[in-house]
Amino acid sequence: MTPIVPPFPTARLRRLRASEALRSMVRQTALSPADFIWPVFLMEGHDAETPIASMPGVKRLTVDRVVAAAREAHGLGIPAICLFPYTALEHRTEDCAMAWDPENLTNRAIRAIKDAVPEIAVMTDIALDPYNINGHDGFVRDGQIVNDETVAALVRMALAQARAGADILGPSDMMDGRIGAIRAALESEGHHNVTILSYAAKYASAFYGPFRDAVGASGALKGDKKTYQMDPANSAEALRLVARDLAEGADMVMVKPGMPYLDICRQVKDAFGAPTFAYQVSGEYAMLMAAAQNGWLDGKKVMMESLLAFKRAGCDGVLTYFAPEAARVLND
Ligand code: PBG
Repeated sequence: MTPIVPPFPTARLRRLRASEALRSMVRQTALSPADFIWPVFLMEGHDAETPIASMPGVKRLTVDRVVAAAREAHGLGIPAICLFPYTALEHRTEDCAMAWDPENLTNRAIRAIKDAVPEIAVMTDIALDPYNINGHDGFVRDGQIVNDETVAALVRMALAQARAGADILGPSDMMDGRIGAIRAALESEGHHNVTILSYAAKYASAFYGPFRDAVGASGALKGDKKTYQMDPANSAEALRLVARDLAEGADMVMVKPGMPYLDICRQVKDAFGAPTFAYQVSGEYAMLMAAAQNGWLDGKKVMMESLLAFKRAGCDGVLTYFAPEAARVLND
């Protein structure tokens, strides 16, 4: 498409910016609460919550409180909630067995939410890190993150979540072959409508720091995740990963982090046209909140502007810790 712009003064591009009425007529993208997936943190206990220092306004919630949060989200028009468990130290082991325990925190929360608020879609995370003594997304053998053995464990984890009633499975581990293996297992067990939102282009990013505090993984992680998460310097590789995951049966794909990777979002959407999501991760949230709390930025405005940027970059939606607050702004 070649834009036609006659010379000044025939063209005065400010004409279409002169009033809110005209601006609203030519606005290309819009946000709605339906664009948001709300990530929440779970903890054991009853009727309690604990704040996360590096994520002002975000709390870990007990299962009963997460049910209330899901009800609130549904009332605000948010279609999906995504669960991340804070795992007690005694449940972090070498064999990660808690990951596929039907009674683990995530699976109990899935059942509780689907019982109380069946209309909201429940998304989960598939990776071993919350249950791994060394904080990695896969099994560690002789200092290596082993792929195939990890994929077999991820399949067990996925099936446990599907049996608990999860609507959207989010493999965030970046092992090779996991989407195909999970899809085949879901089909063979009759979970035909359980969807997979693949963390297809997930970068080895320093922006995950506050999240690792929230799930208690910061102290546990030995080394880094660079042998499985992507090199921030690469873009062509992101397209190969997305193509591979779609071919293996992912229904939707994700780019993560979000704001520093909007170029990847645009390329993925243009190349494949598949439902494309971005994850505005914990560090992005923390940055904006810290600046807002210092009075350096207008928190509400940068929240909305940052979320709109995902739509402009071609995303169909965004995982964001701002989901309920942004939905409230949009509903007002
Ligand atoms: C774990 C996982 C991470 C996030 C989502 N799932 C952290 C990591 O890969 O170390 C990060 C989310 C965020 O920072 O908000 N597999």
